Amino acid sequence: MAPVRIGILGMGTVGQGTVRVLERNAEEITRRVGRELRVVHAAVRNPARLEGLGLDARISSDPWAVVRDPEVDVVVEVMGGQEPALSLLMAAIAAGKHVVTANKALLAEHGNEIFAAAQARGVMVAFEAAVAGAIPIIKAIREGLAGNRIQWLAGIINGTSNYILSQMFREGWDFQQALAEAQRLGYAEADPGLDVDGGDAAHKITLMASIAFGIPVDFAHCHVEGIRALERTDVVYAAELGYRIKLLGIARRRADGVELRVHPTLIPHSHLLANVEGPFNAILVESDAAGQSLYYGRGAGGDPTASAVVADLVDVARTMTADPSNRVPHLAFQPDAMSALPLLPMAEVESAYYLRIHAHNRAGVLAQVATMLAEYEISIEALVQKETPEADSVPIVLLLHRCREGDLEQAIARMEALPVVVQPVLRLRVESLAEG
Ligand code: NDP
Ligand code: HSE
Repeated sequence: MAPVRIGILGMGTVGQGTVRVLERNAEEITRRVGRELRVVHAAVRNPARLEGLGLDARISSDPWAVVRDPEVDVVVEVMGGQEPALSLLMAAIAAGKHVVTANKALLAEHGNEIFAAAQARGVMVAFEAAVAGAIPIIKAIREGLAGNRIQWLAGIINGTSNYILSQMFREGWDFQQALAEAQRLGYAEADPGLDVDGGDAAHKITLMASIAFGIPVDFAHCHVEGIRALERTDVVYAAELGYRIKLLGIARRRADGVELRVHPTLIPHSHLLANVEGPFNAILVESDAAGQSLYYGRGAGGDPTASAVVADLVDVARTMTADPSNRVPHLAFQPDAMSALPLLPMAEVESAYYLRIHAHNRAGVLAQVATMLAEYEISIEALVQKETPEADSVPIVLLLHRCREGDLEQAIARMEALPVVVQPVLRLRVESLAEG
C-alpha cells in the first residue's frame, strides 16, 4: 500500500521526537499498520535549526505550505499556542486532512468547534499526546473503560510542576533553579507560567473530564491554582501530619454537576500518587465496574510525547479508510449524546482541608479560631503549633474534616479579620483518594 504522508507543524521538542521515533521504529510501525508512515513536509520558523537532522522531507518556514500541500494526508500540529495553530487546524480539517495534535491549550479552549468541524468533515482529530505525555490515558478512558460509568479521576498531570516540587522538597533546590532545569530538559511550556500556575494541568483535566463524563469541553469553568504559594514549611507540616503535597487535577461527577479543579493537594504519604516524582505523571480513575485503576508514566519530554503522537498516527492510518460513523467518537460519546451536567462553583465543593494561620502568640487565639469553625459546623481533625518563643507570630496548622468550601471561606474571612491574625490564611485541600 502507498505510504501515509505526514506533514508536521513545528519541529521543536515534540516534533523532532516524533521524527526520531518514526525513523527508529519504522520497521515495527510498518508491521503494525501495514503501510509506511512517511514525513513528507515539515514547517518550522527557523529552518536552519533542522540542519544536521538529515530529515528527508520538504522544509518550509510557512506552516500554511504544509496544510495546503496536496501531498499531505495527515497534519501533525506540534507548534503550540492558539494562533496560527487554530486557523491551521481548521484549514486542514476543511481540506479533509486528518489531524494529530499535542496542543492541549488549543483543544481545551477551542475543542468544541474543532471537534464539531472534524465531525462534519468526517476526519479524525487525535490528541493522545495532549494529556500526560507517554501515558495512553485518552485511549484508556475513551476505549478501555468504555463499559464503565466513571465517577472521578485525579492526576498528577503536569510534569514540570511535579519535577519542581520534587527537586525543591527532596533535593533542596530553589524554585528558579528547578524551573530552569525543567525548561532545559524540554518539559516546560513555551510560557512556563502555564506549568507553575496550573493552567496546563487545567487544560488536561478539562479534556479528560469531557471524555470521562461525556460533557462539552469547558476550560473557562475549571478552577485553577498553581504551586507558587507553597512554602517549604507547608511540606514539612504536611509530612508531620502524614501527607505529601502534589499539584492535582481533579474531575468528579456528582448528582448535581461536575467538580473540575486544579490545585496543590495533600494526599496520604503512603498513597501511590504521593510517590510519583520528577517529570512522571499518574492518573487515578474510579469507575463502577473496574474500580480504581492507575496509569503511570513519563508526562513530558521529546520521546515520551512522540510515543503518543506516533500511536495516534498509527490509529489514524489504520482507520482513515473506514466509514467515519464506525470510528471512535472524538470525545468518547456520540456528539448528539453529550450531557449538559453543569460545572460546579468551588463554594459547592466538599473536601477536607489544611489551614496555615499565622497569629500573634497570645492566649486564647486557638479558642477563637476553633469557635469560628464550630459556628460553621467544621470540625478539627489535627493541630500542629510550633513553639517559637522568640517570634511574635506563630504558625498554627489545622487539619479539618470534610466540609463545604463556601462555609470554610466564610470562616477564613472572619479569622483574617481578627487583629491577632497577621497574614492571609493558606488553605489547601486534602484528598484521601480512597476507593468508594
Ligand atoms: P517547542 O517550543 O520545542 O517547539 C515548537 C516548534 O514549533 C518549533 O520548532 C517552532 O519553530 C515551531 N513553531 C512555532 N510557531 C511557529 C510558526 N508560526 N510557524 C512555524 N513554526 C512554528 O515546543 P514543544 O515541542 O515542547 O511543544 C509543542 C506542543 O506540544 C505544544 O502544544 C505543547 O504544549 C505540546 N506538548 C509538549 C510536551 C513537551 O514535553 N514538550 C508534552 C506534551 C505536549 P522554531 O524552532 O523555529 O522556533
Ligand atoms: N509542560 C507540560 C508538562 C508538557 O510539564 O507536563 C507535557 O504536557
